[in-house]
Amino acid sequence: MSTPYILVLYYSRNGSTNEMARQIARGIEQGGLEARLRTVPAVSSECEAVAADIPAEGALYASLDDLKNCAGLALGSPTRFGNMAAPLKYFLDGTSNLWLTGALVGKPAGVFTSTASLHGGQETTLLSMMMPLLHHGMLITGLPYSETSLLNTTGGGTPYGPSHHAGADGKRKLDEHEVALCRALGQRLATTALRLENTRG
Ligand SMILES: Cc1cc2nc3c(=O)[nH]c(=O)nc-3n(C[C@H](O)[C@H](O)[C@H](O)COP(=O)(O)O)c2cc1C
Repeated sequence: MSTPYILVLYYSRNGSTNEMARQIARGIEQGGLEARLRTVPAVSSECEAVAADIPAEGALYASLDDLKNCAGLALGSPTRFGNMAAPLKYFLDGTSNLWLTGALVGKPAGVFTSTASLHGGQETTLLSMMMPLLHHGMLITGLPYSETSLLNTTGGGTPYGPSHHAGADGKRKLDEHEVALCRALGQRLATTALRLENTRG
């Protein structure tokens, strides 16, 4: 059996969600598990466009096996009209076989997002990302208010999961609270997955 890992599965066009994914991965490693970063290809407005198997840069494209074999999942997307981006939804819509076989039942999962505007739909996007994961039987882990960044942030950060305010030009970097909450989610997923693993008979 391969080393257990938390899958950090995300889509990012301009890099903000990608930076959140990297911080979550560091939290996962601090929590004692390996992080596997994977992205998904863009979808085309043409009927079908076939992307190269390997992206030109950044994380590899996720396979269904990456998802099937994970010990837990962090799912990230930019906010698009208050919802997750189509490329991630498209990938999730291809996971029926994992649903039929219950491959993800009982595994911990958390969600994260980045927006251009501060009140432009972070929470709705996070909630929309939870729905398919609940259908898969995953155990949703948000962020507790014992994470003091939740009370002190003037940027992103919600009890539903980490978020980032990238600004209208998309150039605002993650601030200290946004970083802390990304790391906290990663650590929480890793420690929860390890605890669940240890209680399996
Ligand atoms: C089609 C589209 C819809 C968007 N909808 C929203 C929105 O509802 N609220 C918001 O604040 N930002 C919205 N944005 C901005 C992105 O969420 C924001 O730039 C995000 O930080 C991009 O993440 P990325 O750098 O990982 O690609 C939208 C962007 C696009 C292209």
